[in-house]
Amino acid sequence: MMNRDEPAAAANESDELSSSQKVKRQLAPAVLAVVDGGPKSVTPGTTFSPSPIPSVAIEGSPPAVTGLEKVQFGAGRIAVDDKRMINCRADVNQLVPFKYQWAWQKYLNACANNWMPQEINMTADIALWKEPRGLTTDERRIIRRNLGFFTSADSLVANNLVLAVYRHITNPECRQYLLRQAFEEAVHTHSYQYCVESLSMDEGEVFNMYREVPSVHDKSAWAMTYTESLGDPDFHTGTPEDDQRLLRDLIAFYVIFEGIFFYVGFVQVLSMGRRNKMTGVAEQFQYILRDESMHMNFGIDVINQIKIENPHLWTEDFKKHAVGMIRDGVELEIRYAHDTMPRGVLGLNANMFTEYLHFVANRRCAQIGLPEQFPGAVNPFPWMSEMMDLKKEKNFFETRVTEYQTGGTLCWD
Ligand SMILES: [Fe+2]
Ligand SMILES: [Fe+2]
Repeated sequence: MMNRDEPAAAANESDELSSSQKVKRQLAPAVLAVVDGGPKSVTPGTTFSPSPIPSVAIEGSPPAVTGLEKVQFGAGRIAVDDKRMINCRADVNQLVPFKYQWAWQKYLNACANNWMPQEINMTADIALWKEPRGLTTDERRIIRRNLGFFTSADSLVANNLVLAVYRHITNPECRQYLLRQAFEEAVHTHSYQYCVESLSMDEGEVFNMYREVPSVHDKSAWAMTYTESLGDPDFHTGTPEDDQRLLRDLIAFYVIFEGIFFYVGFVQVLSMGRRNKMTGVAEQFQYILRDESMHMNFGIDVINQIKIENPHLWTEDFKKHAVGMIRDGVELEIRYAHDTMPRGVLGLNANMFTEYLHFVANRRCAQIGLPEQFPGAVNPFPWMSEMMDLKKEKNFFETRVTEYQTGGTLCWD
């Protein structure tokens, strides 16, 4: 096995050329402009060509299980040590015995945090939104832009989970959490639809925003390049190169998309709620933030577990690539902050978000074992941690009016 800190050799030039050219054609000029103008070493969306590492796949060994194999009558029972996060050969259709207790616990915690958008009272929001002087133009822009970004963002995350990530994670307790997460993403998309409908907003304007507004488009376009390869039916893990591709795409979605791209919007909308404006929308976002911080923490645990089981993947070249992706993500999110907040509003301004995103990026780097990129960055919004710790029974904005229906109260007629 290679030393994880051993410097890696040069990448395969011919592969990288064809792949990155292909991806660049698919990216918007606006995204490429960020890359070309910045100090970053990696183009957002560039297909990663890792350094050649001796294959860990055993010649002639069967591929990783998907769960769709024929049932092997008479096969032996599963032992904990047979289970692996990726490239597992043991039956993935047997949930127990648990190997990753943390994954099962996260599934239980997520189920205990159930909520539905209709539980939240939108009456005050509707009145404020309809009142011509209820909100300033800049405040309305924040609501519109963030609903526009998040509507498509949650669909992208859900599609990435069920069409790309799920089949490559070969552990049933993690798959159990992924299924729960997929449901939560559906709830989030429902939540935005509920807000749009409640406020009688132009649904075409909101839902199509990721194809119309550059700062919204660019974040989604960047993320798309990190889901398409895993979604390719011909893509399989099992070689170091392909395993690194999976690891890279997990970092893109869990650490950057859900861990950085969501946070300007969360701060902006929750700031509005803290000022007693759009409290229903803010409460929806507060529940979503709580879910999202769990999604991100789950993804970080998966990434770190893959590193533990496959230390040869975590090369110096790969680490540099991951750092470049995070730095690119910060740039795109800073641009989003400026676009959504062209002037100071709600006691916030775009420059505060630069500091905040540097702080968040440092935290994300530390969580997956990368060096901090922005030394000394401090959190200008310490109240955000309180928002993430929300318990179901606690109601920060005091707008909650109903409990969700349980089995005993549902009508089966
Ligand atoms: Fe979500
Ligand atoms: Fe999520």
